[in-house]
Amino acid sequence: MPLLSATAAACPNIALIKYWGNKDHEFRIPENGSISFNLSGLATKTTVTFDPAFEEDRLSINDEVIEDSGLKRVKSFLKIIRQMSGKPYFAHVTSQNNYPMSVGIASSAAAFAALSVAASAAIGLTLSERELSRLARRGSGSACRSIPSGFVEWYPGNSDQNSYAESFASPDHWDLTDLIAVVTKKHKSVGSTAGHALAHTSPLQTARIADTQRRLSVVRHAILNKDFEALAEMVELDSNMMHAVMMTSNPPLVYWEPTTISIIKSVPIWRNENIHVCYTMDAGPNVHVICLKEDVQTVQAKLKEIPGIQDVLIANVGQGTRLITD
Ligand code: DP6
Repeated sequence: MPLLSATAAACPNIALIKYWGNKDHEFRIPENGSISFNLSGLATKTTVTFDPAFEEDRLSINDEVIEDSGLKRVKSFLKIIRQMSGKPYFAHVTSQNNYPMSVGIASSAAAFAALSVAASAAIGLTLSERELSRLARRGSGSACRSIPSGFVEWYPGNSDQNSYAESFASPDHWDLTDLIAVVTKKHKSVGSTAGHALAHTSPLQTARIADTQRRLSVVRHAILNKDFEALAEMVELDSNMMHAVMMTSNPPLVYWEPTTISIIKSVPIWRNENIHVCYTMDAGPNVHVICLKEDVQTVQAKLKEIPGIQDVLIANVGQGTRLITD
């Protein structure tokens, strides 16, 4: 029998319009559509090997054997792959990240995007990009957006069949840079999965969802027309609306640290100085400071002046998930 093994590389993505809350938690059908771009330079490389001789699924990340909830999540995902292929084999999964995990840089997005592409190829499934996006969504919602290339929109749909992401502009369409200001490298206390389940407890979630089409449309057009002003205003509003929902959930989720607030108060001031820059945050305290390529050095210098920033990771608009030779 041929070796049932494949390796894939994926980037995380940063959402400009956020996914927060599900219509269906098991299938990760989101309450609202979202828009993101892939982050080049930050990579997850995953090798999956299936073998009839294996007695259990195994997972290692960055050379460390994982046995906690991370393994449980990968096992449930591999179960889907086994059902789809009709092959009941266990798998060994080995993954390497070149950026810190669980600090709000969506490591689960790159992880499940790479796992979807590697596992389906290893077991001999031939899937279209849309099918891969739907599959990745089952592992982590935002992972469906790391499958296609460049600037991506996730159509929320209402079922497993019609909830997937698609590219609407290639990576070279617009030279945006994401300067990720790392405020802490500590693991977050409440992860996204638990957070999505709390979204409906906030009285603000209904208003946030009702206004989503407008924000999606403004951001989609701002990207297509390379209109930074329009993008900046809507991206900050969308991030603030999601964090308002988080902070007013029961129990409340407050991800911000003092340095987070210093950054988000500074960025609009810099924009008033004619620097093309805006901020957005995921479920964590780190701030994604997005700017035009021509402003990268200025923004980097300004971030250096803010106390409490531990590191700044730099990413541009990246490719989708692809198979690689190891
Ligand atoms: C705040 O995709 O990480 O980053 O489906 O439970 O894995 P799970 O959640 P996840 O949620 C991402 C939430 C977010 C916003 C976003 O990326 O759109």
